[in-house]
Amino acid sequence: MIKFTIITLFREAIEPYLKTSMMWKAVDKGLAEFDFVNLRDFGLGPHKSVDDTPYGGGDGMLLRCEPVFTAIESVKAKDPEAKVILPTPVGEIWNQKLAKELPIDAHYIILCPHYEGYDERILSIVDYKISLGKYVLTGGELPALIIIDSVVRLIPGVLGGETSAEIESFSDGDNLEYPQYTKPAEFRGMEVPEILLSGNHGEIDRWRKEHSGKL
Ligand code: ADE
Repeated sequence: MIKFTIITLFREAIEPYLKTSMMWKAVDKGLAEFDFVNLRDFGLGPHKSVDDTPYGGGDGMLLRCEPVFTAIESVKAKDPEAKVILPTPVGEIWNQKLAKELPIDAHYIILCPHYEGYDERILSIVDYKISLGKYVLTGGELPALIIIDSVVRLIPGVLGGETSAEIESFSDGDNLEYPQYTKPAEFRGMEVPEILLSGNHGEIDRWRKEHSGKL
C-alpha cells in the first residue's frame, strides 16, 4: 500500500482530483491512501503566518522553516519511516523511469510550497527534490498531483482491464503506448490500420511493439 500525506494550504485544489476516477479506485481497492495536513495549523502568531520576507532583500515571501518542520514532524511522529518529497523547479526532472523506481510500499509526505519560494534550510528535512520541468508554477499542488497520478497508475490492480504482464511487456525501456483505434473502422476518410482488423494476434503484437513511442 502506498500512502501520500500532502502538506498544503490548498487542500481544496487537490482533493477533487484524488476523489475521481483511477485515484479513487486505488483508494477503494485499498492500494493507496491519501491524507492531508493543513500547513496553516502550524503557522505562527495570531495570523498563523507561514511565510516571511527574504533576508538580503528581494521580492515576495518565503515559506518559513518552523511551520514546515513542525508539520512534517507531526506526521513523522506517527510514522518515522515516511519520506519527504518537495516539488521544486530546481529538483530532479520527473520522468517515467523515476515514477517506476519509486517504492510503492511506502509513505510519502509531499510538501507543497507556495509564495515565491522556501527557506533553503527546509531542504535538510527533504528526501526527494522533484521538478516537473523547466518552468515555474505558483505552488506545489499541481506537481504533487502529477507525481501521485504517475506513480499510483503503475500499481498492479489500479488500471482496469490490463494484466500486469501486459503492462510489463510494453513498459520495458520506457515505451509509450502504441496508437489505438476503436469503432468505426473508417471515419471521414481516415482508416484504421488493416492489421488491427486482421485478427492475427502475432502480427498485431509485432505492429504494436514497432509503433510504441519512446519516452
Ligand atoms: N514548483 C514551482 N514550479 C515547479 C516545477 N516546475 N516543478 C516542481 N515544483 C514546482
